[in-house]
Amino acid sequence: MDESVKIFPTPFELAEALALDLVKMINGAESGKVPFTIALSGGNTPKLLFSVLGDHFAGSVNWSLVQFFWVDERCVPPDNMESNYSMAKSSLLDKLDIPGKNIHRILGEEDPGKEAIRYSREIAEFTRNRNRLPIFDIILLGLGEDGHTASIFPGKEKLFRSHKICQPAVHPVSGQKRITLTGRVINNAESIIFLVTGKNKAAVVNEILTDRTCEKRFPASHVVPVNGIVTWFLDKEAGQFLY
Ligand code: 6PG
Repeated sequence: MDESVKIFPTPFELAEALALDLVKMINGAESGKVPFTIALSGGNTPKLLFSVLGDHFAGSVNWSLVQFFWVDERCVPPDNMESNYSMAKSSLLDKLDIPGKNIHRILGEEDPGKEAIRYSREIAEFTRNRNRLPIFDIILLGLGEDGHTASIFPGKEKLFRSHKICQPAVHPVSGQKRITLTGRVINNAESIIFLVTGKNKAAVVNEILTDRTCEKRFPASHVVPVNGIVTWFLDKEAGQFLY
């Protein structure tokens, strides 16, 4: 597996470097890979990255060539403060000159089972395909302290064997309903990027990145790209046990 780890002194320096890398990847894509497809993760961590992208790189990319999707979404309305779409919209998308049709939000306000099917069809329509699975050019992932990623939580690793593109999920603590990409779709991406900051993530990051027992103790341990690469972008706190 092609894996690399990049550690930065602060979350801001990480966000700047990752934003620049994303811009280079989008602008460097062969013309044949138009549109360029990106699936965004949610939670709090990506907000700084999105703000840096929106504030400093809005003029650096022809955003009409980029299609934005989500890795997962909370089953709430789009204007709810819990919505991953709402966070990306305010911190990034509203700052870009991008056609509305390029923004493919998960309809969190709809029935989860029906929306998972609808969103799967939308993904299939707008992405390239390999091994009968959609290919995202970039999938941006976060990591929970329990080792979850996307909305694939501990004990639900079977979502890495699902033949569906999206599935409903439930947060194990809050009971919040979610919709998530499944693991085979995540692993089919060209470039998988984990964005993890904070000392509260250091222990799980270390266990995942140093665990060579192939025990795959955490959902995020199952992120193993089929053809692509996985890169971990960490701040010093999250990576503190790695060096
Ligand atoms: C979500 C995310 C989830 C998130 C992790 C980390 O919808 O919450 O997709 O997988 O990336 O829970 O969340 P924080 O960045 O808030 O720590």
